[in-house]
Amino acid sequence: MEQQPGFINLDPRYAEKASQFSMELTRLRAGMEQDARRDAKKLGWDFLTRKWDAQFYVFETKWLKPAPEPLRQTFRRWFEDLKNDWSTIRILYTPPTEPESFNASTIQTVFSELASRFRSEIDESTDPVDVGVSKMRWLGRNSGFISILTDEWLKPAPPEAKAIVGRELNGLKAAIERGLEETLNHWHEKFEYHLGVADSTSVRKTEEFDLSLPGIERAIGTRHLIKQTSEELQRIFLSIGFSVVQGPEIETPYYNFEALNIPEHHPARDNMDTFFIEGAKNHDVLRTHTSPMQIRTMEKQAPPVRIVVPGKVYRRDNPDATHGYMFHQIEGLAVDSDITFCDFKGTVEYFVRAFLGPQVKTRLRPSYFPFTEPSAEVDASCHVCGGSGCRICKQSGWIELFGAGMVNPAVYGFVNYDPERLSGFAFGMGIDRLAMMKYGLSELPVLFQNDVRFLRQFP
Ligand code: DAH
Repeated sequence: MEQQPGFINLDPRYAEKASQFSMELTRLRAGMEQDARRDAKKLGWDFLTRKWDAQFYVFETKWLKPAPEPLRQTFRRWFEDLKNDWSTIRILYTPPTEPESFNASTIQTVFSELASRFRSEIDESTDPVDVGVSKMRWLGRNSGFISILTDEWLKPAPPEAKAIVGRELNGLKAAIERGLEETLNHWHEKFEYHLGVADSTSVRKTEEFDLSLPGIERAIGTRHLIKQTSEELQRIFLSIGFSVVQGPEIETPYYNFEALNIPEHHPARDNMDTFFIEGAKNHDVLRTHTSPMQIRTMEKQAPPVRIVVPGKVYRRDNPDATHGYMFHQIEGLAVDSDITFCDFKGTVEYFVRAFLGPQVKTRLRPSYFPFTEPSAEVDASCHVCGGSGCRICKQSGWIELFGAGMVNPAVYGFVNYDPERLSGFAFGMGIDRLAMMKYGLSELPVLFQNDVRFLRQFP
């Protein structure tokens, strides 16, 4: 990035860093003044100067060194100004203590030192923003150097010295005002733009910036509906003692099928036709469900286990209104020494009410999965019509939610769990399906088309 005038034109990626940096400078600057005003007499200038040297060192390592390249040069200049401020503040806050030291030569020395400090500062400005900052520093109403001078030098000066201090002060102020104006004009000509409200007569054709234009609002974005739903599901299970784990999307057939009691040639593999990774040693596949994480978790961890597993899964489905080649599932597994079918049913009912509302009823229908025995389909009474029958539930009053069941003891054999001692339940839900149902979406593809008109409806 070429050298820009100040930060007027700053790349938005850096705007936040720049504003943090300048806030930090402001904080340090206020601290300096407070020290000078309050503590200098008590602690002494040498002590405070050492304190600020240490502060500068910390600031440099923490803020300046890691600053992004395009900002570093400007940051460094601001930082140098801050360090200069400390020595200027030190001068301002040490007026002569004895009336006889308030003599013309002391006073003139100090004021000419200040004048030259102002001069070199303004000579180093590189744009109108710098000039504005200098104006605040020197003429600022509350803690500008001139106002400090008035309080610390003019007010306490003995009567015979007042005239001299007053004259020097006015001279300095006039020099500053002149310097600021000249420099500002210089930069305006150079950059060919005006500060202030643009009007058609004064706006030059070549003007680069129109400071009266409103800023650009940058959309922050929101979490996608699938993410929101997934997090909602996770929260429900977290609240009843489950943990969240994640697993690989590329799986070995062993985890995706065999260890889940789905041997080769088992008909249950048919509807899970999937994508094989070409050239992979173990005939790796894109996982067809999140169930492999049941196995991976039990392999790693001794019972009890209580986990949910959100993630992407893949199937060789023909895309239509309710199918895609990729969708999201959340798997659940609970295994312990005393888990019964009642625990299973109670957990499922709790979940359904938490997700769809307290009035929703649950029913279990017999089903089949190789890794659960018995297996069930979990249905909920239609949350739209309350069970009387409508378009959403296809007049049946019930909506199919997900598959589940008690863990098939055969599965424990694959992970060295003792089937005599342990029992548990598992479930696997389609997150996209649940989102479609809960939010009344009539088709799946809207979830993946990234159309902001759709996404904005779920802030
Ligand atoms: N893995 C099954 C599927 O993708 C869903 C499933 C059913 C998961 C029953 C389970 C379960 O854990 O117990 O169709």
